[in-house]
Amino acid sequence: MAKKLAAFFSASGVTKQAAGKLAKQEGEDLFEIKPVQPYTKADPDWTNKKSRSTLEMTGKTISPFATSGGSGYGRSNKGLEPSAAGAKFNPGRMM
Ligand SMILES: Cc1cc2nc3c(=O)[nH]c(=O)nc-3n(C[C@H](O)[C@H](O)[C@H](O)COP(=O)(O)O)c2cc1C
Repeated sequence: MAKKLAAFFSASGVTKQAAGKLAKQEGEDLFEIKPVQPYTKADPDWTNKKSRSTLEMTGKTISPFATSGGSGYGRSNKGLEPSAAGAKFNPGRMM
């Protein structure tokens, strides 16, 4: 097991190929993030306002949660918010 991990998501296979090459070159383990419902060839069509990828990019609400040994959630949302511009963040919950 390598100490480095290359985690990737690829809808069409282009990124998958690149990640595979990089992981081999850098000696990293490879981990594919897979969608529950695989993408069809038509899904990533950004020229189609009704395609899956277009619809998936709009109106996201993120509901973060975390676990801890006793610390609270604190200001974690402030750190997360810049990573998802335009998304609505619900208050974080400790579980
Ligand atoms: C929804 C969507 C938006 C995209 N936007 C851009 C873009 O703004 N500029 C660009 O050069 N390529 C854009 N692309 C093309 C992809 O980044 C490119 O084809 C990439 O290699 C796809 O890799 P993957 O299918 O393996 O994830 C977009 C693709 C999709 C599906």
